[in-house]
Amino acid sequence: MTNQCGVYGLGVMGQSLVKNIASKNYTVSVYNINDEVTRDFAINYADIKRIYPCYDLKDFVLSLDKPRKILLMITAGKAVDQVIESLLPLIDENDMIVDCGNSYYQDTIRRYEYLKKHNISYFGVGVSGGEKGALLGPSIMPGGDKNLFHCQLEKMLFDISAKTSDGTACCTYIGPNGSGHYVKMVHNGIEYCDIQIICEAYDLMRKVIGLDNEKMSNVFHEWNKGQLESYLIEITSDILKRQDDLGSGYLVDKIMDVAKQNGTGKWTAIESLNEFVFAPSIIEAVNARVLSEMKSTRNKANRLFNTKVIMPVENKKEFLARLENAVYISKVISYAQGFDLIQKTSIKYDWNLNLGEIALIWREGCIIRAQFLERIKKAFDKTETENILMSEEFRNDVNTYVADLRSICGMAISNGIYIPVLMSSLQYYDGLCAKDLPANLLQAQRDYFGSHTYQRIDEPEQKSFHTIW
Ligand code: 6PG
Repeated sequence: MTNQCGVYGLGVMGQSLVKNIASKNYTVSVYNINDEVTRDFAINYADIKRIYPCYDLKDFVLSLDKPRKILLMITAGKAVDQVIESLLPLIDENDMIVDCGNSYYQDTIRRYEYLKKHNISYFGVGVSGGEKGALLGPSIMPGGDKNLFHCQLEKMLFDISAKTSDGTACCTYIGPNGSGHYVKMVHNGIEYCDIQIICEAYDLMRKVIGLDNEKMSNVFHEWNKGQLESYLIEITSDILKRQDDLGSGYLVDKIMDVAKQNGTGKWTAIESLNEFVFAPSIIEAVNARVLSEMKSTRNKANRLFNTKVIMPVENKKEFLARLENAVYISKVISYAQGFDLIQKTSIKYDWNLNLGEIALIWREGCIIRAQFLERIKKAFDKTETENILMSEEFRNDVNTYVADLRSICGMAISNGIYIPVLMSSLQYYDGLCAKDLPANLLQAQRDYFGSHTYQRIDEPEQKSFHTIW
């Protein structure tokens, strides 16, 4: 008897995904480069039917139904190329390799083309939801050959994905070759913004109006009932009230304020710069983590300069109401940047991505999950949306809430508090709405020092002018 699919890689995510697949009545062969990991997994989960441990790569490959479906659950990077090379002599034409890691989309494009020459189908599949998502149903973003996806992969990926309350699978065919991993990368760029905006709200609440952890937890709990309802707001409320198991007080106060990153947010920021897509919130969300790592420099500067608060806020209730709106609209502005990036890249590669559908599969399973994403789908449905902020769906919200964002940013400036994503979201809005920018002067300077030429407002755009200054 042969099995319906194979999972290569039994890290935490791999193990969870295997259990998920088996629970949906698929038979799964599993393999890990380290036999001991496979053995432990087999012992620990001996009661789960339909999981078949393999200790030899050839046995693993031979244990699979043809055309074989091999899901890679390994760390992105060189390891993926190495595993592909080790599989190549063992697999047959038309077999499928499905990379479910956080691979860089350009690597996925390269691997797709390489394997095409061997008549092997390659899929780059974005999987979001962490360990729990992999186990109970992640949001899945598959990129690769469309027909093959529908015939061979769709059913299984739909079965193991998260479902919305009406039973819709949080998985849809994204587009060709690297597009699934591209969309997952931008998901993470947006995730960085969501996380950072929440952290900035927390910082403002504790520093400007002096709320304690318990009170802040309640605020987030309340916010989770309104337009900010989302997984990240929900877990923030939980985190803030958690006591420290290893000592007294709250755990969050014992955690070092140094943020780590695995690269996907940085890739998104770099991508926006490479493609000239205006995405300051995403870039600043990455910068915020970079700054956090400069712990000793920050300590030194704090000692050197006068950093005391100069403008405390009297009306805390009003402040919190404004903050909620500021957080919400900053979030919408960040999503506008992420979707703009996806839209422009889709055009560049002729991927024909369906932005509304992408928003819908992020409603459950993934880290940025929220019902709010349904509104993004609506924004794309109604008209040819150039930017969701200008869509009928969000226009009024922007008009209503930007004043609160501005007020909150003003208070943060007066109090000397670092809120890069709230601030750059406001700057995004102000920049977007600026009919006249000082770029006329900038162009004059470039022409002055470097004869770079400029265009005139009273002449056709294609015509260039140079002045002997
Ligand atoms: C997800 C997450 C997942 C992971 C991030 C964390 O969608 O399940 O995005 O991919 O948690 O990679 O990224 P950083 O380590 O860069 O914060």
